[in-house]
Parts: sequence; structure tokens; C-alpha cells
Amino acid sequence: MTKDQAQLEIAELTKKINHYNEQYYMNDKSEVSDYEFDMLLNKLIALEKDFPEFNYPDSPSHRVGGTVTKEFNTVFHKTPMLSLGNTYSKEDLEDFDKRVAKGLGDEPYEYVCELKFDGVALSVTYENGVLTRGVTRGDGTKGDDITFNVKTIRSMPLKLKGDFPEEFEARGEAFMPKKVFAALNEERAAVGEETYANARNTASGSLKMQDSAAVAKRKLDCFLYAMNGDNLNIDTHAEAIAKLQEMGFNVSPTYRKCKTIDEVLAYIQEWDTKRQELPLETDGIVIKVNSFAQQEKLGFTAKSPRWAIAYKYKAENAATRLKDITYQVGRTGAITPVAELDPVQLAGTTVKRASLHNANEIQRLDLRVGDMVFVEKGGEIIPKVTGVELTARTPELTPVEYIKNCPECGTELIRLEGEAVHYCPNSQGCPPQIKGRIEHFIQRKAMDIDSLGERTINLLYEKDLVKSPADLYDLTYDDIFQLEGFKDLSTKNALKGIEASKEVPFESVLFGLGIRYVGKTVAEKLAAHFKNIDNIIKASYDELISVPEIGDRIASSLLAHFENDENKEEIERLKQAGVQMEIIEKESTSVSDVLNGKTFVISGVFANYERDELKELIQQHGGKVVGSISGKLNYLVAGDKMGPAKKEKAEKLGVQIISEDEFDAMIK
Ligand code: IVH
Repeated sequence: MTKDQAQLEIAELTKKINHYNEQYYMNDKSEVSDYEFDMLLNKLIALEKDFPEFNYPDSPSHRVGGTVTKEFNTVFHKTPMLSLGNTYSKEDLEDFDKRVAKGLGDEPYEYVCELKFDGVALSVTYENGVLTRGVTRGDGTKGDDITFNVKTIRSMPLKLKGDFPEEFEARGEAFMPKKVFAALNEERAAVGEETYANARNTASGSLKMQDSAAVAKRKLDCFLYAMNGDNLNIDTHAEAIAKLQEMGFNVSPTYRKCKTIDEVLAYIQEWDTKRQELPLETDGIVIKVNSFAQQEKLGFTAKSPRWAIAYKYKAENAATRLKDITYQVGRTGAITPVAELDPVQLAGTTVKRASLHNANEIQRLDLRVGDMVFVEKGGEIIPKVTGVELTARTPELTPVEYIKNCPECGTELIRLEGEAVHYCPNSQGCPPQIKGRIEHFIQRKAMDIDSLGERTINLLYEKDLVKSPADLYDLTYDDIFQLEGFKDLSTKNALKGIEASKEVPFESVLFGLGIRYVGKTVAEKLAAHFKNIDNIIKASYDELISVPEIGDRIASSLLAHFENDENKEEIERLKQAGVQMEIIEKESTSVSDVLNGKTFVISGVFANYERDELKELIQQHGGKVVGSISGKLNYLVAGDKMGPAKKEKAEKLGVQIISEDEFDAMIK
């Protein structure tokens, strides 16, 4: 491809991707499948790699991240990022209104009301319409430069539309949508990871991650609500919001002009319940004087503007009786204590149960069965117990004694060092663990056997027909037909679903095995690196942790899983049944043979490549990537953060250590 052709193609792909992005993230419309979208993006990334002169700062390829920042630079805000005064009552609001009226003399004024988004304040700077910097609020005076991470927020324009000021700053609130948060926690729970407490902290933590590719996966969003700069030609807050929207920013459509404090109060009341339907968590309302001239006249106190105030909704909570504590056993054997409550109305639903997380939480709350407890429903779907009404406690109530044995199979529980959660170690004999593993195996992201469900798995288990995923492949027509609710067609369908799962790719099978801490992404990385199950079973600890994103915890979990003979036997049976246990290699397009016969080890973090990309490049040029350093090795490609032990070993064995630039020179 010539340079001109590449430039043209890059421009076209950019336009298309930007269009699909905008449709998807701003207008909720998918015009192409995820697969087609990824193909376009991959094509763009590949072209930009070959023609770096056309890799512009506003390219949508930056959305997928790939930059690793070791330490964020500190940036001073042009004007401080202040906080807002909080109020909780109608009276406080009326006082605020009186102060505004007094400060403005006889002038008429109006307010704009907005939701108070519960996320992380963010500042973004645009120069000539291009996003050049994203900074956290920090201490209000200075924050961290997280530009690469901000670029992964799909709704944040990398390039503005229409008329825009030459240079300005927009401010807003980055957040993790409720649905994304719930899915993330579900995914974590599914692989035995501790779930995150709330969406705000998760959003905040995500924005501070060092690897922007990992940030991209967090699917953050951002509502913008302010513009700062010279000669903006805007006189009011409402105009600023309209302008932001016009330039392509994501603006919450929930704002409203209010002429009187009564209209403000009506807005507050209206959104008290309606805000539950919003895609993000909100904890109140922000009331702002609309006119900039009047804002200036009112000025600031040391901490916050006199022209704005936040009204905070009280977290919805209710008092009820703790009737009992029951214990659930998960697929991985993790025990979750659950508060059984006298039914109580909370945020429009009846609450009967609340999660208690683990033994530490019960101890922290000093719970006793029979206590009056407070339950609260924040943005989370599951309500939580937040405290005990101690004045209502009667003397006969005794502290909860945490169970010592599994409530399902009676096995003595264990608690691993440094972990808060208790486990039932009887993985092969404990019914909810067995059924949980099979349910995990058949789920959509794994073997996708949707002709079976939780109910059928239960029936099969009760009838002693299925005790492990591999048993599914031994099921006969008669086995299924005799189950309650099954007829000829549904039986054939169930069998068809099981048969079709034999075509599911290896990475999904690996995820389906339900190895602790091996989520879908980890399974994909392992499959891509080791190619087949036997290589994974054979892999040493060092080989495992040499794979990007595989650390000590996952490596140890894999080793423990494959040390178990029953697990190995299960894999053997799945293999015999015809389930995919190796990846189907994509034809790797050969580009040259300059690296023919040469072996490479890749280590550390690179400025321009993900490790997988580097690996593919080596293969495309005829080289081979191996897992460990030996005397036969030709090159160690060293990035940042390479372990000193590796370097030492390579030096000792006389292996040539090359930098990323030197590697580039070899293949150019
Ligand atoms: S305006 C001078 N509008 O609340 C401060 N802030 O306590 C102007 N926030 O740091 C901020 N939603 O992170 C404003 N609609 C909204 C908001 C909002 C959430 C956050 C923001 C700010 C904090 C102030």
C-alpha cells in the first residue's frame, strides 16, 4: 500500500468508526455488529502502526488504550476545581435562595437544576477542537494527567464538531454506568474475585489504572456540565450546556431552568424517585444561578461558589428486625452470609434479605439475631445492613457465631490467610458447588448451551445423571426425555445444544472450566499464549506469569487446579467427548522472513506495542517466541519494568538484549 492510499484509508476508517461510536454511545443505536466494528478498528490500528505519521492524536484507535503510564504527571488547574456546599432540607434551600437574592440586589435571576452525578470530577482540555489533556480533580488545585485513560471513554469526543473555541476546558463527572458496574461485579463473582463496593470508587480506581487498555474495558462514561476559557461567547450556564452538546459532548438531558425556589423544589421532588431510572448513580441535585454575570457578582467562599449549592437526597434506609442469618455456598465454595429480615418497604420495593459479605462484616456490625437493624439501598441492587439500633437491643440476644461447617455438606470450612471469605473445601462433593460448576459451564459466555438451564441441571443432578460438565456429553435421549417437563422436541433440542457446544472455541471452554480467577479475558490470554490445554497443564509457575496479565494469584490457582487428578480426568473426558481443547490458529500473514530461525523472549512493558502485538510481529517476520531464557535463545526484547533476574540470566548466558527500537530496526 502506498503512503497516499494508507492516508486515505485511515481517514475513511476513522470517519466510519467515529460515526458508529457516536451512534452507539450517544444515540443508543448499533448500526454494525460488535465483530464488524472490531474488524474496522483492528484494520485502523494495523495501518497506523505501519504508517505512524498518520496516527493522529484524535484517532478512535486510542479508545482501546494500550499506553502504560508508570506515574501520572501532576498538572495545575487553570482555575481551582471547587466543591459545593451541601444542604439536606427545604429550609436550607430557602436560605440559599435568600442569600442569592440579597447578593444580587433587585435583579431578577433564574436557576438551572441538574442531577448531582455520583462519579469522579474530570477536567478535559481541547485545543483546536482536539482533546489534548484529561486531568483528575486531585486536591482541587492540582490533579493527575490521565489523558490516555480519558481517551478510552467512548462518549468523550477526541475531535469536536461544528464551531468550537480555539482553546477551552470542559468539566464534568466521569462515572461507571450502573449496568456496567453490575456486570463487572457479576464477572468478578463468577471467578471467585471479591466484588467492588460501589460504582463511584470503581470509576475512580479505573481512571487511575496504569494500563489504558484495562481502563478501556471498564466502559466508563462522562457527563459534562461546565466550560471554562476566554472569549467563549456564552452568557449563561444553560447556553454552556447546549454548546457542549452541540460540539459532541455527552450532556445529561435532565437539566432544567427554574425561575423560583418552588420550581426548584418541584424538580427535587420529581427526581427523587425518577433518578433510579437513570443509567448512573446520583446522590442529589445541583442548583446553579444561570447567568455568568450574576455568578461573578456572587463570587466564592474559600471552598465553594456562592452561586451554586447541592441538595443531597437522604440515602434510603429503613429499620427492620433481623430474623436469622443464613449462608449461601457459591460455585467456588465461597460462603456468603445473608441477613433474613422482616419484610420492609425500601425505595419502592419490599426487602426481605440483605447481603452481609463475610464474617468480618458481621463482627464489625456486632450483629445479633433479633436485633433491629438499618438497611440501606444505595445505587447497588442488593440492599445492605448498615447498622444496629443498639437502644432497641434486649439483653438475651447473643453475638452471632459464624458457622464452622458447610451448611450444605457439613464439611469443616477453611479461611485462607489474608482472605475475609470462608470456603467449603469439599469441591467434589458439595451439591451447590457441583451444580454451580455445571451452570457456569453451560452459560452463554462459556459453552453457550441455552437449551439447558438451572432447573434442568437441578433435575439431572437429583437423578444422579450429571455430576460434572463432562457427564453432559454422556446424556442419552432417554436420560433427558424422562425429566419432568421434557417432550420429544425439547429433548432433541437439549441434545442438539450439547452437541453444538463441541464447536465452541477453546478460550470459552477454558473459561467454562471454572478455574478460580480465570475469567473470560484471562482465558483468552492463556489460550492465545499456550494454544492448547496440555501446554497449560504442563506450564510452570514462571511460564504462567510470563504471560501478560497473568500474575501470582492466577498462576497459583491454575497450578492448584491441575494438580488435582479429578480435574485432570475431567479434562480428559471432555477431550474424548470432542470438546475443543486447542485454539484454531488464524492464518498469520507472513510479512517477511528476516527473523527466520531466530528465537525471542519478550519481557516488560513497551511504548508502542502490547506484548501480544510484538509477538505477532515476530511471527509475521518468521521468528519464534519462546517462554523462557536459555543459552539457545537469540534475543531478549526488553521493555520497561523488566525483572532484574531476567536481565541477569540473559547476560550470564550471553543472550543478546535488545530494546524496542532495536527490534523495530531489525524488521524495517
Ligand atoms: S458543578 C464549583 N454540577 O460534585 C463546583 N458538580 O461537590 C462546580 N458533581 O466536584 C461543580 N454532579 O464532582 C457540578 N451537575 C453537577 C455535578 C457536580 C456532580 C460533583 C463534582 C464536584 C462535586 C462538588
